[in-house]
Order: sequence, then structure tokens, then C-alpha cells
Amino acid sequence: MKIGIDKIGFYVPRYYLDMTSLAKERNQDVNKYKIGIGQHKMSVISPAEDIVTMALEAANSILTKEDKAAIDTILFATETAIDYSKAAGNYVHRMLGLQHNIRILELKQACYAATGSLQLALDYVRMQPDKKVLVLSSDVAWYGFNTPGEATQGAGAIAMLVSANPRLAQVHKGTFTTEELPDFYRPSYQEIPTVDGHLSIRCYNDMLKRVDPHTNFLYTCFHMPFANMAVKANKVYSHPISDEKIEVVKAFTQEVGNIYNGSLFLSLISVLSLAKENLENETIGMFSYGSGAIGEFFSLTIQEGYEKVFNKDAMLKHLDDRDEINFETYQSYMSFYKEKEVTHQFIESDFTPHAQNNFVLEQMIQGHRIYKKVSK
Ligand code: HMG
Repeated sequence: MKIGIDKIGFYVPRYYLDMTSLAKERNQDVNKYKIGIGQHKMSVISPAEDIVTMALEAANSILTKEDKAAIDTILFATETAIDYSKAAGNYVHRMLGLQHNIRILELKQACYAATGSLQLALDYVRMQPDKKVLVLSSDVAWYGFNTPGEATQGAGAIAMLVSANPRLAQVHKGTFTTEELPDFYRPSYQEIPTVDGHLSIRCYNDMLKRVDPHTNFLYTCFHMPFANMAVKANKVYSHPISDEKIEVVKAFTQEVGNIYNGSLFLSLISVLSLAKENLENETIGMFSYGSGAIGEFFSLTIQEGYEKVFNKDAMLKHLDDRDEINFETYQSYMSFYKEKEVTHQFIESDFTPHAQNNFVLEQMIQGHRIYKKVSK
């Protein structure tokens, strides 16, 4: 029996900062960001959003009433949790109006938890093929002002519906490797991660070499903490894909930045949206990396007729249909994000949510979050 991703959706905040604006303020040559790191834009989370609203937007873009009734498990992968006890998925459950016979878990393993969740979901559905699992990933990659990581920041969410007889992609088992490493970590008292950027790139490539399947794929997608990580990874990979294909693999990341757990799947969406080839029955390689550290290589086979459940025009429109903000607005939104997640004080009426948003954070009362579905 085939098990895999029946549908996939994504959400990125409706505002972005162009790297030209950041380079100007940081006295850097813009080519360092656009050519060296490969980032053109950075998604910036707005005040009435958080990891829950982003996950809701992604899930809402793919789920029908029938899907909602069949979901009995939500796995929410994040490394930017909003609560040490309560799972962010509980809020998603309420706002999506899902049934009550459902298990909800939040999973953490740096940027790898979404891949781990997907693989666990596959095994679960294999044992109970009538069930569907909603795998969510939602993160805000925030390194702090004036840090080397600042140019690689981003925010976004991915939603995947895992089922038997998937219409999008059959997902195959992966090969994984783990070793405790000090490349990137954020202890609970820190707002931003401690990062040894150059060590982290070496750790990433080392993990890739360990799980490299030595197989040829039409495309291979990579976890992309910044777009040119795919270029670096492709150089140490046994079956590198062409420069032209790497451009397709990294196109969406270039426009968004790091979305941590969702980054690998954003790369898959990029390929599904932009590949010139017919992808039906083609197998795509997927390399997932999480600092700290773990690497997994798996593959997935795109199903015949997948375009019935994957609307590439809608994906491209979602990416294009954003508003640019200036540096001052970026500074105020990120300062606000930091303050909100530390003080847990928030009232939405102080801000006007973006007209495209369907879900907003309305209020926080002593840490309890109240969300609102925007009536359109
Ligand atoms: P940096 O050290 O400031 O930059 O930050 P650099 O000096 O290494 O320059 C970057 C590139 O730009 C270099 O190219 C330069 O030559 C080039 P490379 O040698 O790499 O090919 N460059 C220029 N190119 C054109 N014109 C110019 C110019 N100037 C320089 N004028 C770094 C870079 C990535 C280290 C930093 O942004 C950082 O620390 N980022 C965060 C950490 C990170 O992304 N690590 C990646 C692997 S770890 C990972 O993937 C896990 C993660 O997602 C977290 C998780 O798992 O939870 C991060």
C-alpha cells in the first residue's frame, strides 16, 4: 500500500524586507547577501501573527470538510514554541473546528522535527490506513539585529496531510544519522540562538555525506537555512544536480529566508511549482538537517495526476502577492515580536492585520492566546 503526502500547503507572512534595504543599514555589499548567501528577500512576521496563525493559514489552504473529519492526529513541529507545556496544535484544533477524538503532539528537534513527524505519521497510517495525520511545521527564524545570521532570517509554515493512497507523493523510508554537536542551540532562557555559522555548515555537509544514498534523482531538495546552502550541499553530494535545477530547488527560499522546520518542504514546493519536466512518477531526493544534530535522507515519488491537488499558480501567487516593508518597519515588527513572546502581552486592536490574513492573534491574557477567524 502506498502511504505519503496527500496534499501540501504553505504560508509565508504577507510582508518582506528586501535584502538591499538590510545591506544598506548594515553597511554590507548587497552582493554578499544576494550572491554570496543567495537571499533576495526575508519574510517578516507581523504583529498579529505567531506560529499558530501561520500554521492555521497553511492548514486552511489545503483542508476540506472531509479531510478535517478524517484527521485523528496532529503533529506540530517547531523550534520556536510559544509555551513549554501546552501544544500549539491545541489552538489549531480549536480554530479549525476539528473533532475531539484526536491526538495532538508538539515535536522539537531543531529543523528536523517536521521530517521526523512526517516519517512517524507514515508508520502510523501504515498501521491504520483509514486514518489521516496533519503534519504542521511553523517557525520564526530570528537571529537578532546586526548578527551574521540576520540575513538568513525568515518565517513561515507548512501543512501536510498524510494518508494512504496519497494523491501528491508516496514517501519512502529514510536513512538517518545523529550526533550531539554544538553548532546551533537556544537554551530556554535565550530569545535568540547561539550559532557557530561556519561550524554549522560543516556539520550539515558531514551529515549529508553520511546518509547520501549514492542514487540519481531528477531533483534533490535540501534543507535550506539560506538559499546557497543548497549550492554548498550539492557540491559534496555524490549525484549533484545541474546548476539549472539548483536554481529551481532554491527559488522559493531565496524569496523567503529560513523557515526552519518547513524549509526542506518549501524547497519541494519550489520544485513542484517551477520544474519544467513532467514530474509524474519521478522520484525526488530529500535531505533534512537539524542542528544539534541529525540528518536524514529520504525520497518521495510524485503521483500521476498530482496537479489535481497541487495548484502551482496558487503557490506562485501566494509568494508574489506580498508587500515590501522598509527597514524601520522590519525593526519595529521584530522588536515587537521579541517583546510579545517574552512579556506575553498583546492586544490586536493596536494593529491592523494584513487584508489577506484569515486568522489573527486577537489577545493574550496571562499567556493564554485568543485567536480570531477574520470574516471576509
Ligand atoms: P558570514 O560569516 O557573515 O558570511 O555569515 P561569509 O563571510 O561566510 O560570507 C558568505 C558568503 O558570501 C561567502 O561565500 C562569501 O565569499 C560571500 P562562500 O564562501 O560561502 O561561498 N561574499 C560575497 N559574495 C559576493 N559579493 C560580496 C561578498 N562578500 C562575501 N561582496 C553565515 C554567513 C551563513 C555563517 C551566517 O549567515 C549564519 O551564521 N547563518 C546562520 C547559521 C546557518 O544558517 N547555518 C547553516 C547550516 S546549519 C542549519 O542548516 C540548521 C539551521 O537551520 C537551524 C536548525 O537546524 O534549527 C540553521
